Amino acid sequence: MTERFRFNLLATNGKARRGEITMPRGTVRTPAFMPVGTAGTVKAMYLDQVRELGSDIILGNVYHLMLRPGAERVARLGGLHEFARWPYPILTDSGGFQVMSLADLRKLDETGVRFKSHIDGTEYSLTPERSIEIQGLLDSDIQMQLDECIRLPAERSEIERAMELSLRWAERSAKAFGDQPGKAMFGIVQGGDVPDLRIRSAEALAAMDLKGYSIGGLAVGEPQDVMLKTLEETLPVLPETKPRYLMGVGTPDDLLQSVARGVDMFDCVMPTRAGRHGLAYTRFGKINLRNARHAEDQRPLDETSDCPAARDYSRAYLHHLVRANESLAGMLLTWSNLAYYQSLMAGIRAAIETGRFDDFKTETEHGWKCGDL
Ligand code: GUN
Repeated sequence: MTERFRFNLLATNGKARRGEITMPRGTVRTPAFMPVGTAGTVKAMYLDQVRELGSDIILGNVYHLMLRPGAERVARLGGLHEFARWPYPILTDSGGFQVMSLADLRKLDETGVRFKSHIDGTEYSLTPERSIEIQGLLDSDIQMQLDECIRLPAERSEIERAMELSLRWAERSAKAFGDQPGKAMFGIVQGGDVPDLRIRSAEALAAMDLKGYSIGGLAVGEPQDVMLKTLEETLPVLPETKPRYLMGVGTPDDLLQSVARGVDMFDCVMPTRAGRHGLAYTRFGKINLRNARHAEDQRPLDETSDCPAARDYSRAYLHHLVRANESLAGMLLTWSNLAYYQSLMAGIRAAIETGRFDDFKTETEHGWKCGDL
């Protein structure tokens, strides 16, 4: 019999959870960080490297792939795993969030969202049913409902309207997804920074008995303490037996703080995008390699790292590559950043297992504050 989609909670430490999601293409160790592979590529990385760093799952985007090369084409070419040569689990985002941030001339109503491609102006429409159909054509293992994410700050009435619409779209998405034992469709909690709206959203989604729950609409302009308070209000409403995924988050500190509140999964462009902009995330904190003070610094980013990019190249050389706009700058810094993110997650998982998450958190924060900078 083929493997079903399952979540096992292996250990808890305070509110932090150590778990495992199993599905036919592999096991995801949680808390997990999922590198963003928007257009079927984790930018500036070979997927072999992404895997070697300890990534159990990567993310793909409906929005980008439906525009180019097209979901039907990816399906004809054997699905996204075969196309990109990543045989392990893939999670896809439903498209609503990217339409709102990237597309031109958006029109949203009860049926779905119409928009013009940011690439060539072609008109497209995305409904909850079409988003699930596209995610099926891509052969995604963990699919997201179509939702509407509101930037903060916003009026309560606007947050409420988008949250209720997202709930109706969750019902339609779940119906379109149907019963697929080896895959999952997650509902997305919305409700902005309004506690009763978050609770209403989480309760209604919990009642739908979905296989997992995403927390959307955060890291959209609010301060970190508002995000963390929202997590504290939302997570207790969600079933303990299902994975919880905080969408689009975040900095290493956001990850540590969110795990402490019970989040299991994360994705963010931060390590990859920042790497292409000359920024390194390390156990000593964030280092801007563009800065002139690195011009003759012969130290590597982190001599104790297992990652050659962090361990073997001088800061002076990385500085030079960044200043000269060399592709290798983005490649090395993305590699080093993803290595740091995945080593942080591995450290978090080990600490939860051994009941020393609080100590690990304190030590890690101390390193960021008092590093060698
Ligand atoms: N990525 C980051 N935030 C969100 C969100 O609220 N919804 C979706 N679909 N994707 C996201």
